[in-house]
Amino acid sequence: MENFIEIKNISYKYNKGRTIFDNFSLNLNCEESTVLTGSNGSGKTTLTKLIMGILKIQSGEINIMGNELRNLTLGRTGELIGYVYQYPERQLFAQSVVEELTFPLIFKGVTKEEANLRAQNLIEIFSLEKVKNSYPSFLSYGEKRRLAIASVLMNQPKYLILDEPTASLDAERIESLSSVLDNLKSEKIGILAISHNKDFIKRHGQRLINLEGGKIKDDISL
Ligand SMILES: Nc1ncnc2c1ncn2[C@@H]1O[C@H](COP(=O)(O)OP(=O)(O)OP(=O)(O)O)[C@@H](O)[C@H]1O
Ligand SMILES: [Mg+2]
Repeated sequence: MENFIEIKNISYKYNKGRTIFDNFSLNLNCEESTVLTGSNGSGKTTLTKLIMGILKIQSGEINIMGNELRNLTLGRTGELIGYVYQYPERQLFAQSVVEELTFPLIFKGVTKEEANLRAQNLIEIFSLEKVKNSYPSFLSYGEKRRLAIASVLMNQPKYLILDEPTASLDAERIESLSSVLDNLKSEKIGILAISHNKDFIKRHGQRLINLEGGKIKDDISL
């Protein structure tokens, strides 16, 4: 199995904070979707931000598709790996839901027609039809989360990292998200999801990693 993400002997400590990772290693591939669990403060979000390069490792190495992360721009990493924040309002910037979805693509040179087509498809999948002209800040938490997930899927990433994707979604919306994830899995898009939701873990945790105090406590393939 080829690794999509290789984390080798990394260390990380927050400014004025305590050491979160000390000589930590982990490989992730696209063949099995991985769920990361662990108690509050165990380092789950920190780990995903280090993978994205949003936080910088202090020693060790992270490779994405064989490229050293430090040689990739944040933008390039974001194209390869779609990242949905634990608090999705932090990644919403545009004036409307449609613009939130289409603007980054049009900016990159994708045609307006193609961007609108992809956006409309995701608006339907994530039941955002009613709010498609609304200002993203005014959406409900569940709508914001669905919009944040839809907006990273607009980029058609090769790997997807989701930090607590089911938080604030009702059962029906979790089901729609789950079927989107099943489709991505069948297209060999790798998934790393942080979750405590038992049903979600059962459905998507082909590999289950339990992180405690910045160390891997369990790593099981199911
Ligand atoms: N900006 C920061 N500065 C200093 N310490 C931080 C910062 N962000 C997080 N921490 C600390 O790092 C540790 C790991 O935090 P992290 O957010 O990665 O945990 P988590 O496993 O995602 O927790 P949760 O389940 O609550 O989301 C915690 O003890 C937290 O207090
Ligand atoms: Mg977290």
